[in-house]
Amino acid sequence: MTSFASRLLDWFDLHGRHDLPWQKSKTAYRVWLSEIMLQQTQVQTVIPYFDRFLTRFPSVEDLAAAPEDDVLHLWTGLGYYARARNLHRAAKLVVSDFGGQFPQDLDGLLQLPGVGRSTAGAILSLAMGIRAPILDGNVKRVLARHDVVSGWPGTTTTLNKLWALAEEYTPTARVADYTQGIMDLGATLCTRSAPGCQHCPLTNTCQARSRCEQAHFPGKKPRKTLPERETYFVIFQRPDGTVLMEKRPEQGIWGGLWCFPESQDGDASPAHLATMRASAQEPTIYLDPIKHSFSHYRLTIRPILLKIIRASEGVAEVNSSQWIDPQTPGSIGLPVPVTQVLKTLALLQ
Ligand code: ADE
Repeated sequence: MTSFASRLLDWFDLHGRHDLPWQKSKTAYRVWLSEIMLQQTQVQTVIPYFDRFLTRFPSVEDLAAAPEDDVLHLWTGLGYYARARNLHRAAKLVVSDFGGQFPQDLDGLLQLPGVGRSTAGAILSLAMGIRAPILDGNVKRVLARHDVVSGWPGTTTTLNKLWALAEEYTPTARVADYTQGIMDLGATLCTRSAPGCQHCPLTNTCQARSRCEQAHFPGKKPRKTLPERETYFVIFQRPDGTVLMEKRPEQGIWGGLWCFPESQDGDASPAHLATMRASAQEPTIYLDPIKHSFSHYRLTIRPILLKIIRASEGVAEVNSSQWIDPQTPGSIGLPVPVTQVLKTLALLQ
């Protein structure tokens, strides 16, 4: 047995979960049912559903014989209803093609609708004591961190590396406890955020921990490429250095924050604004563009500095505007790119 497995088993004996309903009398039927329910649902939610299901359908034959409506009804609230339909179909198949006995090998189990490689591994190991690796979300996180497997587990390359590790570490002895233990470790200590590394039995060999890079593993799903947009910040600056800023409407991006007047379409509009708002000006200065990402698009901001000789009367009363000193903007809400521009302006002064 690898040291990985023996440390995990020692930890499981003391700190693992031993009282979950599907751990009592670990038949293939009970383990299969629990694993399907647990695929996308938390343990605490699953427990009452699991109990009700077993009361209504004590055996795979009872489940196979039930009308589909009854099965779906008992599933109500668990979500992902394809799971319930697959469950019902699988129960019928076990009865019709396997004589009411769950297959005892990977290929056989994979024929059941809703059973993938990890669920099959869980049934083999937990219910039958047959050495078979599992790789659910929790286990992926444990392995990706321990062996710093980079990349998103949704890609075949990364997934194959994780399966190879799962295969390597899974012991022959006590495979049921090992399987439950590695799931428990992922669920209770090796959590996505704030993992409890100081209590983890694998901490000495965990490479992500030694690099302080737990948060980098497993890799995240790559973001879709976001649409690109552009805008101009039109910065009117008076000879005393103050710049005109406007409070944005509450609705929309940066709602209620203070910003420079914006123009969407480049040259024409800033010039227009300039004649509207300033009685005379020096040549336009183009500051370095700033890139800013929102959740749904990327924005390139082109700040244009218009040094004005004299502001038109009443300019600052329009659109709840005020003249702000870039050195001391005061306690107002400012979007990050605006603070960047203010810093640049303060340096130029
Ligand atoms: N998630 C998937 N299988 C589980 C199990 N057997 N115990 C706890 N959580 C799980």
